[in-house]
Amino acid sequence: MRVSACTVALTLAGSALADPTLQQMLGFLKQFNLDFSYPRNVEVAKSINYTGFSEDVVGRVDVTETFIGRELNTEAYTLSQYLFGLFAGLANSTTTPLLGVPINGTLVDLVAEKNLVIATTLREFNWTVAIVPTLWQLKFLFNDEGLVTQYDAILYRSSALFANIWPKVAKAVIKGTQPTS
Ligand SMILES: *[C@@H]1O[C@H](CO)[C@@H](O)[C@H](O)[C@H]1NC(C)=O
Ligand SMILES: *[C@@H]1O[C@H](CO)[C@@H](O)[C@H](O)[C@H]1NC(C)=O
Ligand SMILES: *[C@@H]1O[C@H](CO)[C@@H](O)[C@H](O)[C@H]1NC(C)=O
Ligand SMILES: *[C@@H]1O[C@H](CO)[C@@H](O)[C@H](O)[C@H]1NC(C)=O
Repeated sequence: MRVSACTVALTLAGSALADPTLQQMLGFLKQFNLDFSYPRNVEVAKSINYTGFSEDVVGRVDVTETFIGRELNTEAYTLSQYLFGLFAGLANSTTTPLLGVPINGTLVDLVAEKNLVIATTLREFNWTVAIVPTLWQLKFLFNDEGLVTQYDAILYRSSALFANIWPKVAKAVIKGTQPTS
């Protein structure tokens, strides 16, 4: 079923009683959206084990194949540290971040089918030198308890995005400009 963000409430009302329920999956998505935003992601990374993930979760963030895209091992604590810590760590860095810091996320499209959710989210990233909107596709596979067993995150048009933003970041670094607050 394909629903837009504004029809989510309606979909919830009419959802089936399957395991995991649509309520569980959308509840996770809503929480994840908050948890991934700075500064909450710093706390989540510190908590080590993300409560929304199953113990044997497998996941991947495909920012670019050449940059950080890689297969990860199956330990939940490593994964949540990776997923949240990757951006959270940079958020706390004193240098200009190469990957940017996730600020706020808005759901723009959602597909839910049995135990799979595919969400497209528009998310502002703070690169210190600029605030840039990014578009992500997030796929989550759930177990019967409503915990995520697999995820895959893809950043759309990352090459064009980085080609645009990295020169600005580099310029700021060369200038020796620390992030101005
Ligand atoms: C995280 O989970 C692992 C594996 O289940 C466990 O060994 C570890 O103690 C947990 N750490 C925290 C901080 O909860
Ligand atoms: C940032 O790092 C410093 C030094 O490691 C630490 O004291 C501080 O609590 C960190 N801030 C956040 C928001 O994690
Ligand atoms: C997200 O944050 C940016 C920068 O603070 C702001 O301009 C934008 O309006 C925010 N968007 C939403 C949906 O909150
Ligand atoms: C973006 O990051 C800079 C440097 O950390 C900070 O000063 C600024 O307040 C941030 N902007 C937003 C909208 O979060």
